Amino acid sequence: MAWARRGLLPAAAGLGAVVAARAARAGRRLDFRGRSVLITGGSRGLGLVLARELAGEGARLTLLARDAATLERAERELAAGGAEVLAIPCDVRDRGAVEGAVAAAVARHGRLDVVVNNAGVIQVGPLAEMTLADFEEALGVHFWGPLYVTLAALPHLRRQAGARVVNITSIGGQVAVPHLLPYSASKFAGVGLSDGLRAELAKEGIRVTTVVPGCCGPARRRTPASRGGTARSTPGSRSPTRSPSPRSTRAARRGRSSRPAATATPR
Ligand SMILES: NC(=O)c1ccc[n+]([C@@H]2O[C@H](COP(=O)([O-])OP(=O)(O)OC[C@H]3O[C@@H](n4cnc5c(N)ncnc54)[C@H](OP(=O)(O)O)[C@@H]3O)[C@@H](O)[C@H]2O)c1
Repeated sequence: MAWARRGLLPAAAGLGAVVAARAARAGRRLDFRGRSVLITGGSRGLGLVLARELAGEGARLTLLARDAATLERAERELAAGGAEVLAIPCDVRDRGAVEGAVAAAVARHGRLDVVVNNAGVIQVGPLAEMTLADFEEALGVHFWGPLYVTLAALPHLRRQAGARVVNITSIGGQVAVPHLLPYSASKFAGVGLSDGLRAELAKEGIRVTTVVPGCCGPARRRTPASRGGTARSTPGSRSPTRSPSPRSTRAARRGRSSRPAATATPR
């Protein structure tokens, strides 16, 4: 063919690939209306901000966290704004409790389309002050929790076109810094889990997004167990002041899969 000889075939093929890639990207955007979305750590902080945004886009929500009073407050606020929301006290480190919560979400909303693994804890201090319990807690919340939630959700996600898993990790899961060793090690594990899931689940049409927030304001810090810390956050601490949630929501909607992560540091 003459136009192929003139070198137009490669150019046309290149342009076609670009157009196809753009169309594919456009086709991946998720409309949250009527979608059932489960958010761990949805009672406050980034999880609650995401819940508000997704409720505003018409999603039906299930929120998981441990503290029942904080959860109820979040549920009341969202319901008052017209959202359909179920709040379930649940420690994501407890596999049985997670399985029960996922079943309850499906029973309430009739389906499950998206899970956002957002629950997090942070212990700050030098290695000498960290105990094994601090490492176990961090890995429980940032690795085992997302794994339990994802495994329990998968049979339901497989039934929905456009299903998504969104893992909120941290820049601490890509760069280790001193005095955050349990946090950093567990976030590295979370990033590895998320990227591995993304590779494995892509062939089933389930998109997995690894969201990597930078520091977005004072997170709730916890004193290590060796210094009298408990499972509660330090009183007076605050939720993020500059939220990465708009970029996290966009990443969830796109279900970005061609790159390993969506960085969500606020500007
Ligand atoms: N804030 C930042 O600067 C920043 C930066 C990078 C990454 N991140 C990540 O973003 C996520 C949200 O951070 P945030 O600042 O919004 O935190 P936050 O305000 O402290 O909220 C943490 C949420 O997780 C829940 N949670 C903690 N442990 C749990 C458990 N074992 N089971 C179930 N829920 C649990 C908390 O509720 P209960 O305590 O009632 O369970 C709460 O709803 C975390 O994964 C964090 O690592 C935050």
